[in-house]
Amino acid sequence: MQLHNFDIDRFLRDYWQKKPLLIRNPWAAWTNPLAPDELAGLACEEDVESRLIERTGDNWALDHGPFAAERFSTLGDTPWTLLVQAVDHHVPDVAALIDPFRFVPNWRIDDVMVSYASDQGGVGPHFDQYDVFLLQGLGKRRWRVGPLCDETSILLPHDDLRLLATFEASDEWVLEPGDILYVPPGYAHDGIAVGDDCMTYSIGFRAPSQSELIEGWCDHLVDTIQCDDRYADPDLHVQDNPGEISPDALARLHGMMTQKLLDAQGFARWFGEYNSSRKYAEADWRPEDPVQPDDLREQLAKGAVILRNPASRFSFIRGSGDAVILFADGQSFDCCGQTATFARQICAQDHVLASPDLANEPPCLTLIAALIDQGSIAIEED
Ligand code: SIN
Ligand code: CO
Repeated sequence: MQLHNFDIDRFLRDYWQKKPLLIRNPWAAWTNPLAPDELAGLACEEDVESRLIERTGDNWALDHGPFAAERFSTLGDTPWTLLVQAVDHHVPDVAALIDPFRFVPNWRIDDVMVSYASDQGGVGPHFDQYDVFLLQGLGKRRWRVGPLCDETSILLPHDDLRLLATFEASDEWVLEPGDILYVPPGYAHDGIAVGDDCMTYSIGFRAPSQSELIEGWCDHLVDTIQCDDRYADPDLHVQDNPGEISPDALARLHGMMTQKLLDAQGFARWFGEYNSSRKYAEADWRPEDPVQPDDLREQLAKGAVILRNPASRFSFIRGSGDAVILFADGQSFDCCGQTATFARQICAQDHVLASPDLANEPPCLTLIAALIDQGSIAIEED
């Protein structure tokens, strides 16, 4: 699916991570993919993350789901907003909204959050750490977009919400169904529903912070260091002052630190596994019984359609020649030949019509069986 009158190269050059952009209805024929009632239904489910924000004057109240169904019928006239996280994991038509934005690689994509607001409802002026495309699904919302903020920006005192105390908007637009507002990380924004039945889809991205990377990679290194290599100094000489930690000793200690940290190949595999770990473990496709190799061979020989679990995270890195390392839901798989071709396909598309030849490729059967068993893919039922 492609957006009309939207030049991806120009967008990446001039706007991505740089400045906000309003994109007026770029869809051939926009249709809202999720009914408000279905969204409310998801917010009642145990394994779905949801929040309800109510505003009374300058007072903001936040409540976490799951909610009782009656909750929505008892909400009064105060403006309110329901927010449901990762709706793409549960609703294929919402997952399809990510397709036009796949010019951003899989590993940078987070999820689609959906909001539903009553007249004047909103989540308050704030800034996010990540890029977002705010797609107006139903009804209207007035967006005000303002300056770049950072950790020095003044927030309203609130235990749960990070709302900006002051907010000078530099642009203001009313979005109608199908319109999209791109907001880069750090830009203040505030969206207020104009009339009832206001639904907004936030196609959200992610980017690791330096501290997360250091922490994760170091934790991994500590877990995998086999023998406890210890500092040794068989060449020790008498020092002028026994109190000094000598430059030689420091260089050797620093080397002990950096030698492991600089392992680029080890880092690549660790990062792929770390980054492909699922955000939510639910929406589980794991079969009750492990896949039987003969059954799988038979299904593939008939030409099966392999579906990617929308809650799963897939990416790959290149190896030598045609080899790749495939990452799916925190696991890595070394692939070459036809198996590597399949791995690239399942990363690029949410479903793959498997070539019947794969039935005769034992490494590919092993990979597909492992991915089915861990719930990352499934074979489409007839
Ligand atoms: C909303 O949908 O109301 C809020 C989305 C956002 O500001 O990130
Ligand atoms: Co936001």
